[in-house]
Amino acid sequence: MDRTLSPVSRRYFVRTAGALGAGLVLGCGDDPTRLVSPGPDLAKGGEKGKPGGNGGGGTRNALKIPTVVDPRTGSLTVSPASLDVGGRNATVWAYNGQFPGPTLVVQAGGENNLRLINGLQQETITHWHGMLVDDLNDGHPRHAIAPGEWFDYSFTVNQRATMNWYHPHPHTLTGEQVAMGLAGAFIIRDKEEAGLDIPVGPPHEVPLIIRDASFDRNGDMEYKPRSGGFEGDTFLVNGTLEPKLSVDAAVYRFRILNGSNARIYRLALSTGDDFHLIGNDGGLLASRVDVAEITLAPAERVDVLVDLTRRPSQSVMLRDLDTGWDLLELEVNDTRVDGSIPTGLSTLAPLTDPGPQPAREFSFDGMSKINGKVYDMADPGFTVQKGVTERWRFTTRGNAPHPVHVHGAYFQVASRVGGRGELFPWEYGWKDTVLLEDGETVDVLIRFDHSAVSGLYLMHCHKLEHEDMGMMTNFTVE
Ligand code: C2O
Ligand code: CU
Ligand code: CU
Repeated sequence: MDRTLSPVSRRYFVRTAGALGAGLVLGCGDDPTRLVSPGPDLAKGGEKGKPGGNGGGGTRNALKIPTVVDPRTGSLTVSPASLDVGGRNATVWAYNGQFPGPTLVVQAGGENNLRLINGLQQETITHWHGMLVDDLNDGHPRHAIAPGEWFDYSFTVNQRATMNWYHPHPHTLTGEQVAMGLAGAFIIRDKEEAGLDIPVGPPHEVPLIIRDASFDRNGDMEYKPRSGGFEGDTFLVNGTLEPKLSVDAAVYRFRILNGSNARIYRLALSTGDDFHLIGNDGGLLASRVDVAEITLAPAERVDVLVDLTRRPSQSVMLRDLDTGWDLLELEVNDTRVDGSIPTGLSTLAPLTDPGPQPAREFSFDGMSKINGKVYDMADPGFTVQKGVTERWRFTTRGNAPHPVHVHGAYFQVASRVGGRGELFPWEYGWKDTVLLEDGETVDVLIRFDHSAVSGLYLMHCHKLEHEDMGMMTNFTVE
């Protein structure tokens, strides 16, 4: 948490700021890669142009796979960068010149000691979505740093294997910064996962960050907020327009994050084959569930196995049924690789139900309020006692969908009444975000019991425009 200027860090920063400044003056067509170690995807360059439309065949771009980084040491610099988004360049906002940001990978028990350096023209702070950390490391908006400043994180990752993510969290600016490109995956490994017969790491485990986007007339990333939630007119997977991935006839493990500001996807495979769902926000489910379709709201993650062993030499699309977008083409070659689709995965202890009466009720009202109140950073909010299981009830009086997210703990979804009226397999296990649609009452059981968690945390709508307008509340864990 030390933000004091040591001579070394100041020198480092001044050099960085100089390079950034030059990049900004020269404009976005210039090579920003000298600031960072250029990933393979940065080398290509390309002409600017209109964003690609959907479908079209034949012109798909190779899916970018973000560089893997160990967060024990090093830094993350946020700044504008011009980089390849699939066949052409665009200016986006990037972590270390990469879009999406580098994939952070830690073993449970490992550390994150990254320095965040703000090369934007506005304040920022990074939140580690899904990480159970002390409040100084949680990326709360009160810790936002000004342009040119930095923030040193330091925490131990002490929780089960899953795929979390990181993104900015400055109040009123989160939507813009995420939409402009600031997000990356944060994968935790553990022994339980390693003991299963499932792909871990490349090439058969692939993180997929799906989001929509809009580009301006110059072909650069554009943010056009609407109070109902920003929706872009095209899509990106791992920062790639119209992506394709060459794959073996094997069992693949896709770690999917909906990194959109507001758009909800209804994922399916063009073959009609099932996804073998093995995990979600908080890691592995108790056992595998086969589903033909998955609804994924902003910030939600799923861990799915896709069996391509019977699809040699075929093309399989990962599709969004709502828009009809073919999000990713899997070009299956004829190399057959044996794989397994395990059934039993993990032992999950259900939280003891404290009874049908909710301890707290939260109404997500309009576009900017929880229980009638707009976010007030200075208000510590309600107080939760550590180690006590509570039933929380989420309701809305319209203007849904609201993907409700809680910092500092995972919860178990207990029930959904009204609206869709049921719980879905991707809502089993441990969640940190749950989708609340119009007419729905969703109950969750939650217990703040992680040893690092105490102090000030947040609950908010993860439709980022709602969050920025104030659909967020502090609360205090003690
Ligand atoms: Cu993903 Cu409070 O955020
Ligand atoms: Cu979060
Ligand atoms: Cu909302």
